[in-house]
Amino acid sequence: MTARGVGGRRRRYAIVGAGWRGPAMFGAPLLGRYADVAELAALVDVNPIRLDAARTLLGQPVAAYTDLGAMLREVRPDTVIVATRDDTHAAVACASLEAGAGVILEKPMATTAEGIAAILDAERRTGLPVRVAFNYRYGPYVGRVRELLASGAIGEVLSVDFHWYLDRRHGADYFRRWHRRRERSGTLLVHKATHHFDLLNWWLDAVPERVIADADRRFYGPVRAERGPYCRACDVRDGCEFSLDLAADPQLRILYDGAEAADGYHRDGCVFDPEIDIPDTMNVLVRYASGPMLTYSLVAHAAFEGFRAAFNGRTGRLEIEMVDSGPERDRPHDPILVIRPDGAAEREEIPRIVEDHGGGDLELLDDLYRGPLEDPLARAAGSLAGARSVMVGVSALRSLETGAWVRPADLLPAVGPGR
Ligand SMILES: NC(=O)c1ccc[n+]([C@@H]2O[C@H](COP(=O)([O-])OP(=O)(O)OC[C@H]3O[C@@H](n4cnc5c(N)ncnc54)[C@H](O)[C@@H]3O)[C@@H](O)[C@H]2O)c1
Repeated sequence: MTARGVGGRRRRYAIVGAGWRGPAMFGAPLLGRYADVAELAALVDVNPIRLDAARTLLGQPVAAYTDLGAMLREVRPDTVIVATRDDTHAAVACASLEAGAGVILEKPMATTAEGIAAILDAERRTGLPVRVAFNYRYGPYVGRVRELLASGAIGEVLSVDFHWYLDRRHGADYFRRWHRRRERSGTLLVHKATHHFDLLNWWLDAVPERVIADADRRFYGPVRAERGPYCRACDVRDGCEFSLDLAADPQLRILYDGAEAADGYHRDGCVFDPEIDIPDTMNVLVRYASGPMLTYSLVAHAAFEGFRAAFNGRTGRLEIEMVDSGPERDRPHDPILVIRPDGAAEREEIPRIVEDHGGGDLELLDDLYRGPLEDPLARAAGSLAGARSVMVGVSALRSLETGAWVRPADLLPAVGPGR
């Protein structure tokens, strides 16, 4: 396969999931900057109203289906992009592979060990490619961190502190809709943390061996009596700091306002809803097979957004920090600091890219649609990377139930060291 696609013709993609992410991230670029090498052959969504809305937003006629099987039979795409609700990823990916299409999965690859196992099995049996769209691996800042660690800038990494903060604009959004149910998102330990565990596994080039966790719902959920079912039907929305006005954002309005008639999915659900069953404050310890010890946390109600991390190595310490909101959001650079045991320090300033996940989205698309490109940092992620990052979250959830350390490979042998 080349950048020209299959046998010299343009590669034909189908996108499954016509919500916020699928058409905007993957669809519009197929119709625009990648139209020379690729074609958007179909769009699929179980919600016919949102499907129509997504076609309107794309502004070009695209074949639309509410039935995945019919699309696979009639369109026969080369590659299916899976951008549906997380708990449906495994079924969509497996059906696509069985029908002869390669698969690009949005993160998380799946939400359960069973879902991951089914995808790995279908990939092995069909021999078709499976990629996981880890956009956070792309962009200059995270790439420089990988380069420094791989070049031995701080020697062997002994331990890592990694703390990710979601602010009350972004963090709250996960408590409005399907993400807030464990059965749909796998909780933020899977849905969100799969990005972070993947970054860490990739930066360290290491395999997670055991996991222990503590987590709780400390902020969202049924803590406020004065609330409504969703913002548009809420009597106290005017005084609520979390109210979301769908009408104020054209894309939100077109995709979601009215589409609930088909499936009851309210995009502006209340963050104080009693159905919320996921934690918003999470701590995880991970021991890697090759030695490094990780202390991880994720907070979904912080006063700023970004991450802070430090790698403690045999010959130095590497400190990194990226901010997306808060007092420093407009700074032009993000720092990378290497501190030596004698107190000496080396500092690099990496120019910030605010849009598109630190510039990652566009680089990822180049790689997916024009690639395979030269990849000295091994950014292209396949099913094993997708599986290993999800299984840290799944193991953390099991640990919450048992209070004990959990080995991901005990839940899914395919993610163990040596694979
Ligand atoms: N990598 C990133 O930075 C990033 C950012 C946002 C979202 N995402 C991922 O993209 C995916 C979609 O997220 P979103 O924000 O667009 O959600 P969304 O709720 O806006 O859209 C999901 C769509 O999937 C449809 N759907 C559900 N089940 C389906 C099925 N079985 N078949 C076909 N369609 C189905 C829904 O009707 C909905 O239109 C999620 O997996 C999410 O984790 C990734």
